[in-house]
Amino acid sequence: MKTVKLGVNIDHIATLRQARGEKNPDPLEAARVVLSSGADMVVMHLRADRRHIQDSDIERVRRDVRGFLHLEMAATPEMEKFALKNRPDSVCLVPESAKEVANQSGMRMSGKLTELEKMVKNLSRAGIEVALFVDPEPQAIRSAHNIGADAIELCTSKYSESWGKKLQDKELEKIQLASYLVKEMSMHLHAGSGLDYYNVSPVARIEGMEYMNIGYSIISRAMFVGLKNAVAEMKRLIQ
Ligand code: PXP
Repeated sequence: MKTVKLGVNIDHIATLRQARGEKNPDPLEAARVVLSSGADMVVMHLRADRRHIQDSDIERVRRDVRGFLHLEMAATPEMEKFALKNRPDSVCLVPESAKEVANQSGMRMSGKLTELEKMVKNLSRAGIEVALFVDPEPQAIRSAHNIGADAIELCTSKYSESWGKKLQDKELEKIQLASYLVKEMSMHLHAGSGLDYYNVSPVARIEGMEYMNIGYSIISRAMFVGLKNAVAEMKRLIQ
């Protein structure tokens, strides 16, 4: 049986904590709960503005929680240094702008990619698996392959936004075609952004899909059914 793995992004546990500047809810506790509820990895995004996850959250999770840790980060020297010091199991390089609420699109993969290539190589050499968050576009996937990425996380924002609209089939087809290309290039295949309990299944069923990285919908559902149930329900849906 094909099993698609689930990465649970716990950033918004920290968003709630930051709202009061208190210690709770603690992302470390969330990391333990998601892993014991069926998640295959903990996902944390350290943003330049530290709006939710703090450096110490990642340091504590790395030190005190047994399980796969996946760090989302911008491709900046500051983040590279942090990753090399804290050694997550894998990273996903993402675009980041101060004004955005969440990532709405993948990395820009045109032009000179020398600096990005250097960073991918440095992280890989340190034993950290490197994914690039890209739009489901052939050129972006080829460029990511050329600079040595181990995995592609396909950005599903546009698909998620198109749910229930005319464009939905077209956006899903783009993700399917991009997935074939990722597999053809022998890279690992991940997907994420905007996925929820309604729109996740068609993406999870794509041949070769390995990881679905999901945050907002799971943490939101957790308010009503608890984090354990919210994770377990999502895990059931993607299998
Ligand atoms: N994948 C990537 C690369 C992301 O940046 C995010 C958001 O932090 C997610 C997945 C999760 O997105 P969502 O919170 O919309 O499920």
